[in-house]
Amino acid sequence: MVVIYPGSFDPVTYGHLDIIDRCSKKFDKVIVSILNNTSKKNMFTIEERVQLLEKVLEKYDNVEVDTFSGLLVDYARQKGCSTMIRGLRAVSDFEYEMQMALVNKKLVDDIETLFMVSRGRYAYLSSSIVKEVAIFGGDISCFVPEIVEKELRKKIKGGNE
Ligand code: PNS
Repeated sequence: MVVIYPGSFDPVTYGHLDIIDRCSKKFDKVIVSILNNTSKKNMFTIEERVQLLEKVLEKYDNVEVDTFSGLLVDYARQKGCSTMIRGLRAVSDFEYEMQMALVNKKLVDDIETLFMVSRGRYAYLSSSIVKEVAIFGGDISCFVPEIVEKELRKKIKGGNE
């Protein structure tokens, strides 16, 4: 089975990578799909997010990195895939995730959203938290791969945020 793992990935964290790693073992193929949303203020451009994800996922033969804009269900249809994966970190994620899954199901009935529970050690981790800690000079080496940390530091130094 082919699954889509959609998200903003601004930037990718060890939490995302753990979900992708576990999916790569359970499914034939994982398409990591980055939302290209021009109205949202992301720290990394879509090209930079693609590059970072491709780099950190290069060891996987069955993981592909792609981008999409517009509705996730339309993109999924184009890809011929009807299964979405979302990570659930805590109860606080649940309401938003449930809403998204139900809207997607209402839009296209054969879309299924599967939730994968995050590992306990990543349950507190988010891209926003990582950016905030990095902006204030905290150590983020246990949250993101080295290359992501390097690029994040460059961005902050460059005053892009
Ligand atoms: O990493 P994120 O920001 O939690 O990912 C959210 C994402 C990209 C999965 C979600 O915003 C999305 O699918 N956006 C595309 C627009 C869409 O389909 N909206 C309807 C469902 S709410």
